[in-house]
Amino acid sequence: MRVAALVLAAGRGERLGASIPKAFLALAGRPLVVRAIEALAARPEVERIVPVLPAADLARFAALAPDFLGADKLGAPVAGGAERQDSMRAGLAALPDGVELVAVHDAARPLVRPEDVGRVIAAAARTGAALLAVPVRDTLKRVRDGRVAGTLPRAECWAAQTPQVFRLELLREALAKAEAEGFRGTDDAQLVERLGAPVEVVEGDPANLKITWPEDVALAEAIWSRAHGAWPSGSSGVAHGAWPSGSSGVAHGARPSGSSGERG
Ligand code: CTP
Ligand code: MG
Repeated sequence: MRVAALVLAAGRGERLGASIPKAFLALAGRPLVVRAIEALAARPEVERIVPVLPAADLARFAALAPDFLGADKLGAPVAGGAERQDSMRAGLAALPDGVELVAVHDAARPLVRPEDVGRVIAAAARTGAALLAVPVRDTLKRVRDGRVAGTLPRAECWAAQTPQVFRLELLREALAKAEAEGFRGTDDAQLVERLGAPVEVVEGDPANLKITWPEDVALAEAIWSRAHGAWPSGSSGVAHGAWPSGSSGVAHGARPSGSSGERG
C-alpha cells in the first residue's frame, strides 16, 4: 500500500510557554518537527511526509538546513489552522494522488521509535485503522466539581499516542462526518470510531511522550540521551545540517495555575 504521513506542527505551544514556536524547540540540538519527520522518514514504506506548520512560521521552516529540506520524501510545508483538526484537514488536502494509507503524527512526539511506526502502519494496512497506545499506569478517576464521580476500569484504559494510521478514504469520510456534525476530537481515531469502524491498538512505548509542559523538555532530552548517547552525536539523522544550539527557549517558571491541561 502507498503510505504518506502528516506531521502536525501548527500548534501554538501555549502550555510550553517558550519564546519560540514549539515545533522549533530543540531536542538534542534539532527542532522537534525535524526529529518527528526523521522518525517517519526512517521507514522505507513512508513515501511522502507533509509537515503542517503555523502560517506565520512557513518561512522559518524553509530556512532550516537545506540538506534536510532536500530530503526526497519531504513534501512542501502546509499552513495549519486554528485547531488540530483544521491542521489535519489542511495536511490531507496536500497529499499526493494515489496515497492509500496516511499516518498522522504530532510533531510534539519526536521520540517515537521508527519500529513502532512500522508496526502501526502494518496494523492499519491490515485493518484500515490503527493507533499506538500504552496501558495507563494510574487509576483514572472521573472528576466533577472537585469530587470523584467514578473510577474507570484501569485494565481497559490506554493512553493514545501518535502516529495514528488510517486508510485515507476512511479518514476523509470520518472527517467529513465530524465536520458536518460539528464534532471536534482530541485525536484522529475518535473521528473514525464515530463511524463505527474498528481501530486496532498497537502497544507503543511509554517513552513516546508528548512534549506539552516545560518539564517535558528535560525529560525528553534524558530519554533521547539514553537511547542515542549524549548529543550531539550525529548518529540519528537523515541529514546533518547545522541547527541552532543552546537555549531551548523554554521558560522554567511555574505553570499557570488553574489550568486544566489538555485542550487538544
Ligand atoms: N497542532 C496543530 N494545529 C493546531 C493545534 C495543534 O498542528 N491548531 C499540533 C501541535 O503542533 C502538536 C500536536 O498538534 O504537534 C498536538 O498538540 P499539542 O500538544 O496540544 O500542541 P500545541 O497545541 O502546540 O500546544 P498547546 O495546546 O499547549 O498550545
Ligand atoms: Mg494544543
